[in-house]
Formats: sequence, C-alpha cells, structure tokens
Amino acid sequence: METILGLSILVNLLCFSFVKSQNYNVLDFGAKGDGQTDDSYAFAKMWNATCGGEESIGKLVIPAGKTFLLQPRVFQGPCRSSSIHIQFDGVIVAPSNKEAWSIPKSQMWIGFSDVTGLAIVGSGTINGRGSSFWEQKVKVSERATALHFSRCDNLTINGITLIDSPKSHISIQVSKTVAISKINISSPESSPNTDGINVHGSTDVNIFDSTIQSGDDCIAISTGSVNINITRINCGPGHGISVGSLGEDGEKAEVSGVQVTHCTFNRTMNGARIKTWPGGEGYARDISFEDITLIDAKNPIIIDQNYIDKGRHGQTDSAVMISNITFVGFRGTSLTKDAMTLDCSPITHCKDVVMDGINITMAGGEKPTVNCQYVDGESSDINLMHDCFKGNTTA
Ligand SMILES: *[C@@H]1O[C@H](CO)[C@@H](O)[C@H](O)[C@H]1NC(C)=O
Ligand SMILES: *[C@@H]1O[C@H](CO)[C@@H](O)[C@H](O)[C@H]1NC(C)=O
Ligand SMILES: *[C@@H]1O[C@H](CO)[C@@H](O)[C@H](O)[C@H]1NC(C)=O
Ligand SMILES: *[C@@H]1O[C@H](CO)[C@@H](O)[C@H](O)[C@H]1NC(C)=O
Ligand SMILES: *[C@@H]1O[C@H](CO)[C@@H](O)[C@H](O)[C@H]1NC(C)=O
Ligand SMILES: *[C@@H]1O[C@H](CO)[C@@H](O)[C@H](O)[C@H]1NC(C)=O
Ligand SMILES: *[C@@H]1O[C@H](CO)[C@@H](O)[C@H](O)[C@H]1NC(C)=O
Repeated sequence: METILGLSILVNLLCFSFVKSQNYNVLDFGAKGDGQTDDSYAFAKMWNATCGGEESIGKLVIPAGKTFLLQPRVFQGPCRSSSIHIQFDGVIVAPSNKEAWSIPKSQMWIGFSDVTGLAIVGSGTINGRGSSFWEQKVKVSERATALHFSRCDNLTINGITLIDSPKSHISIQVSKTVAISKINISSPESSPNTDGINVHGSTDVNIFDSTIQSGDDCIAISTGSVNINITRINCGPGHGISVGSLGEDGEKAEVSGVQVTHCTFNRTMNGARIKTWPGGEGYARDISFEDITLIDAKNPIIIDQNYIDKGRHGQTDSAVMISNITFVGFRGTSLTKDAMTLDCSPITHCKDVVMDGINITMAGGEKPTVNCQYVDGESSDINLMHDCFKGNTTA
C-alpha cells in the first residue's frame, strides 16, 4: 500500500514537473472573500502571476465557501501560458449598487481580452446585483455586461451560474472555438436588456445543456457570426433565441450557419426569431431551428424584416438578405394567435424557407394563424403551403 502511495506521489510529481502546472489560489494573494472587502487587487495580482507565469497551463482557484467583491476589471492577455484554467467554485459579487461601482458607466464588469485557451469551470456564481441599474432606468449604453470576452480563442465555460447582470450576462466577441455548457443564467423577467448570451463576430461556437431565464433574449446572435450551434437550451422567461437585430443604420450584416436544436421555449415573449432593420445590407443564411418544444410561448416563429426600435425609421431601399431558413419540428402551445409571422422584405424576399412538422396549438384549443409576406419556400403541410408560400412566390 505504502509503495503504491509513494509511487503515485512520484508519478504526480513527475506529471506536475512535465506539464509545469501550479495552482494559484486567490486567497494566497490576499483576497478576503468576505463579500464586503474589495478583492479586486488580489484578483489582479493573481491574474498577473498566472498570465505572466512560466507554467504551460496557468491554474487559478477561486474557492467555494467564499464571496469575493469585484469592481469592473479587464483581465488582459496574451498570456505566456498556452492556456488558463480557472477553477471557479466560489461566489463573485458586483458592488452592491450603481453608486458603489468604481466605473459606474463601464460597459463590462468582468472582462477577458486576448486570452487563448481560457477555461472557466466549476460550480461558482457570478452575481451582477443589477437591480439598482434597472430601477434607476439607467440607459443601456451605460450599463455593464457581467462577463465579457473579446478575442478569446478556444474558450470553455462550464457549470457556472450567472445572476442579475445590469445588462447582458455573457458576451462573446471576435472569438473562435467556444464551448459553453451546463450553465445557468437567471434574472427577473422584468429586468431590461438582460440578454443571456450575446454572440458577435465569432466562429464555431457551441452552446448546450443550459438554462436561461432573463428579461431579454436568451441567446442573441449578431453580425460576423459563423457556425453557431445551440443545443438543449431551456429558455424562459425571456425573449427567445434571436438572430439579430441586423442591419441597423445601413450596417452590412453577415451571419451564416446557425443551428438551434432540441430547445424549449417556456413562456417566452418570442421563440425562434430573425430580425433585421430596413435599410441594412448583407445576409443571414443557413439558419435552422429544429425540434423545438413550446410551452405557452408568444410568437414562437418570427422573421421580422421591418424591425424598428425606439421610433426610428430606416431607409427602405435595401435589406439584409435572408435565405435557407428551416423551421422543423415545433410542437406545443402558443399564447398568441399570431403564432407564426414571416414578415419579409419586398426588396429581397426571404428565400428557401422550409417549414415542416409544425404542430402549434393554442391553450384554448384554437388554431393559431400564420402570416407571411414575401416568403418563398415550401412545406409538406398543404395548409402551410397554402397560407404561407403559395401566394407569395417571386415568379
Ligand atoms: C498587472 O500587470 C499590469 C500590466 O503589466 C500592470 O499594469 C498592473 O499594475 C499589474 N497589477 C498588479 C496588481 O500587479
Ligand atoms: C484549448 O484549450 C484547452 C484548455 O482549455 C486545451 O486543453 C486545448 O489543448 C486547447 N486546444 C487548442 C487547439 O489550443
Ligand atoms: C438557476 O439559478 C437560479 C438562481 O440561483 C435558481 O433559482 C435556479 O433554480 C437555477 N436553475 C437551475 C436549472 O439550476
Ligand atoms: C452541436 O452541438 C451538439 C452538442 O455538443 C453536438 O452533439 C452536435 O454534433 C453539434 N452539431 C454541429 C453541427 O456542430
Ligand atoms: C415552465 O416554466 C414554469 C414557470 O416558470 C415552470 O413551473 C415549469 O416547470 C416549466 N416547465 C418546464 C417543462 O420546464
Ligand atoms: C442550408 O442550411 C443548412 C444549415 O441549416 C446547411 O446545412 C445547408 O448546407 C444549407 N444549404 C445550402 C444549399 O446552402
Ligand atoms: C399535435 O399536437 C397535439 C397536442 O400534443 C396532438 O394531440 C396531435 O396529435 C398532434 N398532431 C399531429 C399531426 O402530430
């Protein structure tokens, strides 16, 4: 037994010296973890030690049983180590209200930039304590995203919980190869602009096995995003899973390859949505929503090419081109009679739209309606074919 133990210690030592890995615990850098003391300085020191360290894998520990108060901060790369693993089991809280933020108008609370191979893994909770921002109706441009990543290739987020962000909970920008799984995002249905996850300008993003309850989109995908795979997400309350909005102020939008499968929309304001501003350019294509369960969702299927926010008016001489869009296997209940609205641009039309296996009923047993404008496509359902596609073909 002793020799086996000795041998395993030896093997461990060998492994450690080979991989050259060391755990940095934030408590060793002077963090108090009492939920009151500002631990930002300890986090910065820990980050510098890990990111600038000699190890090939920087390992950082934020232990369970402690609550760390953090002011807005960006953890900047590139790092010397080829990857950074954050074992996160504690709680991180934002300052208790807006007045206590060191940078009250900051766009992000916890940011990571230019860090390759970052993994944030564990049972930890990030609490943005955003209620004072919501109650004071602070402008969206002056509220922070809780967890922001830019240029973080090969990013992993697993297991963690995020609650009550002032604005979006997670934002992924200009990053390649991202896996987000088994996370839980939760904020009140009434909280403004609290998207679950925003994906912008990123490629090969997998989001799966997670629960998102919030006051805005569960997941929103914006321009520059390619090959986004969303699987087994429990969404609601919230505004559903959206591509867009795209093409604001004449922007050239480019989104392609979005697969949303095995998701549930439970009491959401919308379900599967694509929204574009009039006057935009570019495209949104190769997008599929498949195997979707609806529980009293409002507007479960929407394409809105006349999206106009805050009373502004776009020009109408161009539009983001929407093509190869699939809605297959939607079943459950809609709270609104207008369950399916495909309101496409007269300039571009929506092309190659497929709708199949749609079985949406209303709670009272009434049959919901489908409204289509300028949609070209097909369905094996003769009613849908008649209501949506027949009258609207280009020719
Ligand atoms: C961490 O490193 C950055 C960049 O070198 C430096 O500006 C900052 O003062 C360091 N912070 C701490 C707490 O050591
Ligand atoms: C991605 O990061 C993980 C650690 O998070 C690492 O094990 C893996 O080797 C990295 N992959 C690439 C292709 O860099
Ligand atoms: C998500 O987190 C919230 C807040 O902590 C909690 O109320 C909810 O039960 C969690 N949901 C899941 C599925 O773990
Ligand atoms: C999407 O992600 C799921 C879950 O990780 C995986 O099973 C599936 O193969 C992925 N699909 C694509 C097209 O990448
Ligand atoms: C739908 O949401 C309601 C209320 O939020 C909840 O009680 C119910 O369990 C959810 N249903 C499913 C299937 O998740
Ligand atoms: C249509 O989109 C799907 C993804 O939803 C993709 O797999 C397929 O290749 C696309 N078809 C064409 C003709 O581009
Ligand atoms: C549609 O769903 C209802 C309720 O779940 C079910 O009774 C009905 O058989 C389904 N219809 C089809 C054509 O699958």
